[in-house]
Amino acid sequence: MRILYPFVAVLGLIVIAAIGSQVGMEALFGIVFPYLAILIFIGGFINKVVGWAKSPVPFRIPTTCGQANSLPWIKQDVLDNPSNTIGVVLRMALEVLTFRSLFRNTQADVYEGPKLRYGSSKYLWLFGILFHYSFLVIVVRHLRLFADPVPFFVHMLEFGDGFLQIGLPHLYQSDLVIVGAIALLFLRRVTITNLRYISLPADYFPLFLIFAIAVTGMLMRYVTRVDVVNIKQLAVGLATFRPVIAGDLGVVFYIHIFLVSTLLVYFPFSKLMHLGGVFMSPTRNLANNSRMVRHINPWNDPNLKPHSYAAYEDEFREFMVGAEIPVEKELPAEAETPAAE
Ligand code: HEM
Repeated sequence: MRILYPFVAVLGLIVIAAIGSQVGMEALFGIVFPYLAILIFIGGFINKVVGWAKSPVPFRIPTTCGQANSLPWIKQDVLDNPSNTIGVVLRMALEVLTFRSLFRNTQADVYEGPKLRYGSSKYLWLFGILFHYSFLVIVVRHLRLFADPVPFFVHMLEFGDGFLQIGLPHLYQSDLVIVGAIALLFLRRVTITNLRYISLPADYFPLFLIFAIAVTGMLMRYVTRVDVVNIKQLAVGLATFRPVIAGDLGVVFYIHIFLVSTLLVYFPFSKLMHLGGVFMSPTRNLANNSRMVRHINPWNDPNLKPHSYAAYEDEFREFMVGAEIPVEKELPAEAETPAAE
């Protein structure tokens, strides 16, 4: 069911767009839904990020994978445990651009003995990076539909992406990579038993949805050969708020754009928000300078005076000694403990 429901949902979306666009609702699927979807995407995205930005983070929450800045003769791990903003920016850049923490993923398993063993596990990183970079390339390449004149870097990207010059129109490598990567991410999820057990419809739905977007896009480019001139007129029109639908754009196009609209609406309310969340994560975006700066919780009650450990021990030393709790300062020799009394 966890796989079936999202699969049926994506099939349903395809059927809805196919029927709707063929019974005179082209403007609804080609103009109204895309605009609504963009509004919901932007509004939802901002709302989520502002909500996260407002949540209080009174203290530093360092991830202690590496040595913090400490005594001069102890080597600090600048990337894992940065103590200044440059280090945080570097750590964040590596995280966002290379998925560094995924690269360091480990997998634990139990073997005869029974003994626990940890090993490296790089598949998620590999499939993830292939998926995200091919997605990025495809989205940037789509600018040729929305921008007139087409920016130079889009031409460069198109050239690089099709440099194998297979077939006509040239096959984009990013198209093969994205469908391959989604298939591998899916297979990984269903073949690893533990992972399948914790996977929910919300894990499968985006995979199926993006897969269907990529497949319908490829169908348009390599099989049905859509009228790109008319589609570009609509796309530029959408971008400049003067959309027109001229001629028959083909049922596959309406399915493609409806699935993209669904993705946009779904995005802010789903796990896909890790796109915005990665920047808001306190374990990633705060420098660990707790040993240099005293961070005071801004909503501490000013009437509550700090109680140092030394003062605490002074107050309770006799009782601590009586209860055989180790103390830093011993009792004066003549003092008697409550237990002794
Ligand atoms: C999440 C966003 C999108 C993704 C992932 C996506 C994916 C794809 C893919 C994989 C292709 C195959 C060819 C290629 O790689 O260029 C494609 C083609 C296409 N897409 Fe999209 N697409 C997206 C958004 C859109 C939007 C908003 C439009 C609206 C105009 C659109 C219109 C087209 C058209 C017309 C083609 C055929 C291009 C050609 O024949 O060369 N796509 N899309």
